[in-house]
Amino acid sequence: MTRTIYVNGQYVAESEAKLSVFDRGFLFADGIYEVSAVIDGRLIDNDLHLARLERSLGEISIPMPMTKPEIVEVQTQLMIRNELREGVVYLQVTRGTAERDFGFPAGLRPTFVAFTQEKNLRNAPSVINGVAVDIVPDIRWGRRDIKSTMLLAQVLAKSSAKRKGFHEAWLAEDGYVTEGASSTAFILDKNNVLITRPNSQSVLPGCTRHAILQIAEEQGLGIEERLFTVEEAFEAREAFLTSASSLITPVIRISDRTIGNGKPGPVTTHLQTLYLDLARTSSEPVL
Ligand SMILES: Cc1ncc(COP(=O)(O)O)c(C=O)c1O
Repeated sequence: MTRTIYVNGQYVAESEAKLSVFDRGFLFADGIYEVSAVIDGRLIDNDLHLARLERSLGEISIPMPMTKPEIVEVQTQLMIRNELREGVVYLQVTRGTAERDFGFPAGLRPTFVAFTQEKNLRNAPSVINGVAVDIVPDIRWGRRDIKSTMLLAQVLAKSSAKRKGFHEAWLAEDGYVTEGASSTAFILDKNNVLITRPNSQSVLPGCTRHAILQIAEEQGLGIEERLFTVEEAFEAREAFLTSASSLITPVIRISDRTIGNGKPGPVTTHLQTLYLDLARTSSEPVL
């Protein structure tokens, strides 16, 4: 089956999906993206993802390409046409196409592209067995709260970690963990307090993070939204990372330090179960 892609108002076969070389997304990474998970044919935390899309676009003065219900219709159509039951729906909006110049003319029509990717989310070996993460210097820009397509620092961090056999890079700055290259970082300390960095311009406000903190609070787990050091992460009782495409993934090693007993911890696996239960009931299935 050839994959159907949405490009500027049309559903086309992958081989027919084309953009101008003058698209500012291509020339300047002048765009925003979002990734929503799909489990059992349902979009997960999609309202949070669309709210963040709107906010990110607003922060760089790109108009929403269409209303949120219209975007949901595009996501739904792609899921139906591509028979996606588990995986992700990717959305990208760029400032549009114009003669190459740092400045851009007023009134550009944003480019809007969306596609699906089939992925094994729930039963991925990483989610079940846990992963090792490497500590890599955070060399990104000062507005990490904007979900920009300018991802070169993350590409380099992740590929350096992958070359050394790690699954993900945890980015560090001044001795503190900022976040994962494409995920939010959590640790659980010796007193079972869940610690993650507070939202600010220094990190992407994770949608999965938001959902997990709500679940943890309902469970009466102690929560501290504060910076934590690389040393604290090494000493953690448990650790995990979250993102739309990795759900809750246990972290069992950080650099050369084993976390806990080197297996996914009980709090992490409990949160995984609760998150999946919530995901199964919080939205209507599309197919
Ligand atoms: C830098 C960064 N932090 C955190 C996340 C997790 O965000 P979410 O849970 O909304 O997928 C991502 C996801 O791509 C990311 O790129």
